[in-house]
Amino acid sequence: MGLFGSKSKKVAPAKGLKGAMQVPGDKSISHRYAMLGAIAEGTTEIHVFATSADCQSTLACLKRLGAKIERSDNVVTIQGAGLAGLKAPSEKLDAGNSGTTMRMLAGILAGQPFRAVMVGDASLSRRPMKRVIDPLTQMGARIRSAEGGLPPLEIEGGALKPIRYELPVPSAQVKSCVLLAGLFAEGVTEVVEKVSTRDHTELALEQMGAEVGRHQRTIAVQGRAKLKGQKLYVPGDFSSAAFFIAAGLVTPESNLVLQNVGLNPTRTALLDVLAPMGGRVRVINLEVLNGELLGDVHVESSRLQGGEIHPDLIPGLIDELPVLAVLGTQTERGLTFHGAAELRVKESDRLAAVAENLRRMGAEVEEFPDGLRVSGQQKLRGAEIDPHGDHRIAMAFTVAGLVAQGTTTIRDPACVDISYPGFFDTLARVAE
Ligand code: S3P
Repeated sequence: MGLFGSKSKKVAPAKGLKGAMQVPGDKSISHRYAMLGAIAEGTTEIHVFATSADCQSTLACLKRLGAKIERSDNVVTIQGAGLAGLKAPSEKLDAGNSGTTMRMLAGILAGQPFRAVMVGDASLSRRPMKRVIDPLTQMGARIRSAEGGLPPLEIEGGALKPIRYELPVPSAQVKSCVLLAGLFAEGVTEVVEKVSTRDHTELALEQMGAEVGRHQRTIAVQGRAKLKGQKLYVPGDFSSAAFFIAAGLVTPESNLVLQNVGLNPTRTALLDVLAPMGGRVRVINLEVLNGELLGDVHVESSRLQGGEIHPDLIPGLIDELPVLAVLGTQTERGLTFHGAAELRVKESDRLAAVAENLRRMGAEVEEFPDGLRVSGQQKLRGAEIDPHGDHRIAMAFTVAGLVAQGTTTIRDPACVDISYPGFFDTLARVAE
């Protein structure tokens, strides 16, 4: 691995990944602990808080809302303001690149007796917000957006009424937004999912003392709950670990242990897909902390069969699909998936970005409106990769570079900081 300046990063082929490593704290869980800590009573101390730029955006927004937050290394301490203690911001709230910040915070803002405006960067400003505007409006919030339901969002909160909301898209962000708004409503708010999505919000709410009911795919939260501030621990981010799991599988001489990785079953469908394909990935040293499962992941080089991914598994590996598509090129039979139209409205159009960059590397790929078919046994050629400012595309194609012939150049490598600052340094340490 070469480290040639900041405008681009050169990636050379690797024999394998060796040793032990840790990934930064989970981004999804860090957002949730910070937001709930800000509206809890008492002090919340969050250990191994994500280093991701997105979570920094959440902290900055919460500070503008009057939350008292201190950070030293990876420990974040929040003096909770209670359900009624946030203050009207004097400036706009900047969610940066973070969809989770904007959509989940919208739920909290809907319950506040003041007006707030949330903005985002160019990528976030293209992402759909109607999915949170609709349920929050039904609950009684007044929300204005740019045309087509795009950011910025101007939210005038107030007294909310509980609703029962069937999620039209499988989205943990939307589910969480409604549950957070439900905390401010009088009565029970319910969200019904067609397919389960990550349940970190439900677990965090339970952990902090809210009453949460879960029956099949319905999640209910009792409004006006008192949340209790406490000491929390964030497991390593499985979605960051996924790049190393994939790299370990496809490089020929790998033997790598990823320590303290979050293994919440709503996040680990990647492992369920890899096991029957012949992926040698084992989880060991399991434990549960604050309701979240975590453990060590042991990865060895593997011959992978490939195949078709069932659409019901898609929400459980939504963020892993770019790297899984890259990995598909190294399988016997290739890889196909459908039911992933959501990828078109992530930080970039991830189906298009994956197809474009795989083609640049000489791979055969077919793009569908809601998925991809990637041919197997592809000999990738080093190429110049355009991540379209999307952290997961940059990291997925870094993995591709490890098995390509020649050098791969990743443009705009700093975009990985959105979820994983230090990604290239850690890779340089474990890659041989
Ligand atoms: C997230 C949910 C997913 C995921 C995103 C983080 C979350 O988005 O892609 O990276 O923290 O709830 P959707 O809810 O839009 O599927």
